[in-house]
Amino acid sequence: TYVVTDACIRCKYMDCVEVCPVDCFYEGENMLVINPSECIDCGVCEPECPAEAILPDTESGLENWLELNTKYSAEWPNITVKRESPEDADEHKGEEGKFDKYFS
Ligand code: SF4
Ligand code: F3S
Repeated sequence: TYVVTDACIRCKYMDCVEVCPVDCFYEGENMLVINPSECIDCGVCEPECPAEAILPDTESGLENWLELNTKYSAEWPNITVKRESPEDADEHKGEEGKFDKYFS
């Protein structure tokens, strides 16, 4: 599966939802997550994200993100259509420590 990581937080560009063939993105206030049991590992979302927030869970050190994507995709609503990103999205692109600062 692929997972969304902290680079998405407060950027939320939503280009990913436009390309996913199985519509497996779910929306929280500050970021999106992927439902790992629905993701078919096609990989098309990864290069679409301007924040480079989407990674395959085969990369090391992503266990916590896999857990977070699994947990919140069960709670948050499905999103299939891109909307306007937050106005200050670009200011948060590449920012360090976003999970501790903003994830609620
Ligand atoms: Fe959707 Fe494919 Fe990305 Fe999985 S890898 S979230 S199926 S676009
Ligand atoms: Fe987030 Fe990137 Fe999608 S910033 S909303 S994972 S395009």
